Amino acid sequence: MPKIVEVFDTTLRDGEQTPGIAFTREQKRAIAMQLDRLGVDIIEAGFPISSTRDSEAVKLICDLGLSSQICGLARLLTKDIDACIDCGVDMVHIFAPTSVIQREHTTKMSEDEVKEQAYKMAQYVKANGCLCMFSAMDATRTDSDYLIDLYKTAEEGGADILNVPDTVGVTEPFAMYELVDKIYQAVKTPISIHCHNDFGLAVANSLAAVKAGATEVQVAVNGLGERAGNADLAETVMGLNAIYKLKTNIKTELLFETAKLIERFSGIQIPITRPIVGENAFAHESGIHAHGVIAKSDTFEPGIMTPEMVGHQRRIVLGTHTGRHSVEQKLSEIGVSPTNEQLEEILERVKELAASGKKVTDDDMFTMTEVVTGEVARHERAVTLKELSVMTGNNLIPTASLKAVVRGKECMSAQMGIGPVDAAIHAVQEIIRGEIGGDVKLKDFRIEAITGGSDALAEVIVGVEKGGRTVTARGVREDIVMASVEAFINAVNRLMQE
Ligand code: KIV
Ligand code: ZN
Repeated sequence: MPKIVEVFDTTLRDGEQTPGIAFTREQKRAIAMQLDRLGVDIIEAGFPISSTRDSEAVKLICDLGLSSQICGLARLLTKDIDACIDCGVDMVHIFAPTSVIQREHTTKMSEDEVKEQAYKMAQYVKANGCLCMFSAMDATRTDSDYLIDLYKTAEEGGADILNVPDTVGVTEPFAMYELVDKIYQAVKTPISIHCHNDFGLAVANSLAAVKAGATEVQVAVNGLGERAGNADLAETVMGLNAIYKLKTNIKTELLFETAKLIERFSGIQIPITRPIVGENAFAHESGIHAHGVIAKSDTFEPGIMTPEMVGHQRRIVLGTHTGRHSVEQKLSEIGVSPTNEQLEEILERVKELAASGKKVTDDDMFTMTEVVTGEVARHERAVTLKELSVMTGNNLIPTASLKAVVRGKECMSAQMGIGPVDAAIHAVQEIIRGEIGGDVKLKDFRIEAITGGSDALAEVIVGVEKGGRTVTARGVREDIVMASVEAFINAVNRLMQE
């Protein structure tokens, strides 16, 4: 196996081909910059010939002067390659369908015609001073002898890297190993792998290809891409790092924030059970698991991969399966040690609330504790909201003005945001910054309408974090902004309760 594996990211090309996704220019710029920070070796920025929108975005990304190399996609046509070169790319990714089914029903090119064009176009790319990647589209459904002959031809034409796409995601790890091994034995040029996830095997197939000699993986953030998507960047990289012990240039501690950025820009929510970056990837509820993890995290986590490694956080969640250790641990963080009977009573109440279908926040549990122990909050609420007004509209930058009493002192702040909720949360953060000695980060935000109709009650649950400690709390109002601010302030008050 190679010592270091290159990461080729196609979020902006195959990822943007996800039905329903269209990143704006500004989003593309921000994504490219984040991928560069993350340490991606090559960014496939788009398919310049396909539209002016695409070519302008690829040019914009080329002009950013990033450390990552920038690649553009092209069919085996000089006009496609010219469009990439005009954008200023470092690499042109030339491709053609090679399986019988795709050739007969799309390009109608014979095997020999594909070979001839692949040779000529690889030469053309090289003559124009760019790196050349050649892809045999639908490689896994192409006759393997012809495939090898074709890769050798592209190699003779000057291709710098040969890509093996499992275009419709139909292969499995053992077959993938065999195929890549066969290609590896036949060519001298480095091999890249591009897997689709139609059977949920894209990451496994990519790992198998690397085991057989591929030195580059093509991935997309959050597994975006055509149909069921491409191999997920975070899963592939962590599989290589943690399981195969291979290096990449990826700064893994930025994986979580990168996934969140793409979640926001794409509007496609990351499923809670998604490996590595999902909300539950390092969350524990059941008594046995939480107890084990509190004692030693490796008991019920992989150990070879920790939340810190990927920029995520471990969470002990309260619910119907909660055990006493979780409650004890959370209470000890605020210096409360109930008696055994009190602990049992708090645990019962937590389970009861969870069984009614409610998400139990830390704030809920602290309130139950106060009721059970008869000890009302030992401190006054540190922050009390006095007034809030927001301005928003299609011609305005959303702005929030907020007045609150923080530890007896009246404070005011006006802040802007992406939306009214964002602006209002910024205003609270600004007001408490000096008092709490640092930033309180909003880690999790969830909104639900409890009742129907436009006058529905909105329930907002937030998770906030400061100095490694996370607290969850809820706010319920008819006004979404008020519910959000209420939840945030409730969580802040718990964080400030020492
Ligand atoms: O899936 C595929 O075959 C592709 C090619 C353009 C490499 O995306
Ligand atoms: Zn693809």
